[in-house]
Amino acid sequence: MKKILFVCLGNICRSPAADGVFSAMIAEKNLAGTLSCDSCGTGDWHIGQLPDSRMRAAGTRRGYNFNHRARQLCADDYRRFDLILAMDDSNFSDILARAPAGADTAKVKKFAEFCSGKFENIRYVPDPYYGGEKDFNHALDIIENGCANLLSGLSAS
Ligand code: 4NP
Repeated sequence: MKKILFVCLGNICRSPAADGVFSAMIAEKNLAGTLSCDSCGTGDWHIGQLPDSRMRAAGTRRGYNFNHRARQLCADDYRRFDLILAMDDSNFSDILARAPAGADTAKVKKFAEFCSGKFENIRYVPDPYYGGEKDFNHALDIIENGCANLLSGLSAS
């Protein structure tokens, strides 16, 4: 079983969306026996909350149900997951800075590395929290693109 953890700041916009999109792809390809995923935030402000209503609505328009409850990144995550994917550069540096002594930090990568095609050159998933509907849609476009490549890479390996 390969376990993927998506990480953003609040765990109410980008990472629960990636978690929901990737879960739907795992289910669609019948890969639940070999792949699983979860998400969390580096921050603690939204612990226990459902995703932001704007991200839930953007997901619903595409047929997803984003119903993750926000939680904060913890020491055990570095042991339990095989791949830890940061949504932006500050998430990436926070994840590395909080790694417990001896943790395998090679498993920490940037989500944007998996993007291709029209998103080939993006460096991070922009935070839509202070934006509007188009920003949530844009974040979801990037997330769907990266998740599809992640899935094909993992199911080929
Ligand atoms: P996320 O977006 O990191 O994609 O969940 C944010 C959510 C909340 C805040 C910032 C970003 N906030 O400052 O509360």
